[in-house]
Amino acid sequence: MDDKKRLRSEDWFNNLSDPKITALYLERYLNYGLTRDELQSGRPLIGIAQTGSDISPCNRIHLQTAERARDGIRDAGGIPFVFPMHPIQESCRRPTSGLDRNLAYLGLVEIMRGYPFDGIVLTTGCDKTTPAALMAAATVNLPSIVLSGGPMVDSYLDGRLAGAGTVIWEARKRLAAGEIDYDGFMMMLESTTLSPGHCNTMGTALTMNCLAEALGMSLPGCAGIPAPFRQRGQMAYQTGRRIVEMVHEDLRPSEIMTREAFENVVVVNSAIGGSTNAPPHIQAIAKHMGVEMVVEDWQEIGYEIPLLVNCQPTGDFLGEGFHRAGAVPAVMLELLQAGRIHGGCKTVSGKSVAENISGRESLDRQVIMPFDSPLIPQAGFMVLSGNLFDAALMKTSGISAKFRKRYLCEPGNENCFDARAIVFEGPEDYHDRINDAALMIDDSCILVIRGCGPIGYPGSAEVVNMQPPDEMIAAGISELPTMGDGRQSGTSSSPSILNASPESLAGGNLALLETGDMIRFDLNNSRVELLISEHELHARRDAYQPPELINGSPWEELSRTYTGQLSDGACLDFATAYRNLGDEPLRHSH
Ligand code: FES
Ligand code: MG
Repeated sequence: MDDKKRLRSEDWFNNLSDPKITALYLERYLNYGLTRDELQSGRPLIGIAQTGSDISPCNRIHLQTAERARDGIRDAGGIPFVFPMHPIQESCRRPTSGLDRNLAYLGLVEIMRGYPFDGIVLTTGCDKTTPAALMAAATVNLPSIVLSGGPMVDSYLDGRLAGAGTVIWEARKRLAAGEIDYDGFMMMLESTTLSPGHCNTMGTALTMNCLAEALGMSLPGCAGIPAPFRQRGQMAYQTGRRIVEMVHEDLRPSEIMTREAFENVVVVNSAIGGSTNAPPHIQAIAKHMGVEMVVEDWQEIGYEIPLLVNCQPTGDFLGEGFHRAGAVPAVMLELLQAGRIHGGCKTVSGKSVAENISGRESLDRQVIMPFDSPLIPQAGFMVLSGNLFDAALMKTSGISAKFRKRYLCEPGNENCFDARAIVFEGPEDYHDRINDAALMIDDSCILVIRGCGPIGYPGSAEVVNMQPPDEMIAAGISELPTMGDGRQSGTSSSPSILNASPESLAGGNLALLETGDMIRFDLNNSRVELLISEHELHARRDAYQPPELINGSPWEELSRTYTGQLSDGACLDFATAYRNLGDEPLRHSH
């Protein structure tokens, strides 16, 4: 056993060269019943980063899964330590949970680095909990494994599947059209929240958990299991067992989260119809890992990939159906057989992607479709640029053929159309004025929102999915294209161009757009152009007075100062230089 690698935790609890300091570290951990024997036995100490709490209902299932992960860690010969992570609750956090991903990242890095951990279980669920955890795992680079919390069970409305999260956008339209009253509105929401778990549509939460698995960071099949299913507890147990083995194998995130693994993620995101929030989150993880990745990769690698997963908001089914059909392994097997992903990438299981998914064919071809007869033939993002921004994302399926056909800029070319801009300064302005008849909004308009990026909001809010005026909805036009420098909820299927970077408050020309301006969308060339002269654009820039930015909290001020743009992952820029912190020697505390 003398070639057994000395564990990092032994530097705290078993430091024979400095018994005085070891005694200091050790003694307080005895006070709830741990023994000196255990802590000095050379067994791996495993942290469980707990993201669930009463204020994080999407992740609250982890109060139970953490117990099963503990069992697994113990049975495999490790010692578990559960600790809290800064909470991130997508739906309730004001002004936006967009502020929390980087804050949770910072906190988790300090905990992983500063305490005696040999490996970490990352509990994930609600949208930004997954990227925050993986960004920290990338920076610290200790053996780490993702344990998803899983979606809520399938939910129904009027006898048909209706996803939590997605139903709220429909309910708002029905309320606006006068089809339901306040009680009816509330009943629609209640009927889609049936169990613990995160959103059960292919919104940002399910997307990010699927992508963590596609990246190789969770055990195969982990992402799709609904939160209350018995397999969720079993997966937690296996995850606990596996992290102890990973410590012995010294299997690190840097071996798993490689450029090829990130390419797999882009392909899988198209195939599952993943959220438009995936690109900034995935790029942030790559940046912290030191893997080269640019926003254009999403079009380059992902655009041609077909939509295989028939889940809401684009398709019909929900998380439970996705799980029954085989979830991520079945999707990846289709993609592997079509030669679209790298099968050799290593994963937390210790095996390759190809080994993990062997024999895991789709069990329901209505939910996970064959590669050659998909729901949509090209499902990736288009990365648009032009004189309003350097990069913005559009889901290929985003703007309907019907809308495009009406406003063609050249006869016969359905991929080039013009629209009249209606501009709002943030969501408050939108809510105040959307029903203002003076705006003369009709079905040739695009609704534009600005001041909503990482600096503007701050934190970048999910506000680009705006709906048309009530009168238009009542008349049967339920959607208009939208554009903005904010983000959009992954549960919304609004036709949008979003994440525009640079944002209006970082020097982007979106700031100079005026209501009534004509904008040309040339999707053949991935261009968006404001149709005014260079001269006029310069004159507007010269006359531009940026609005005053008011910071509501110390963190808002710090975040505004250091956060990059969405097209670049919206990381704390200075933080991406830090690597391998788990291996750096630390000063003692006393
Ligand atoms: Fe938390 Fe959707 S609000 S997962
Ligand atoms: Mg959201």
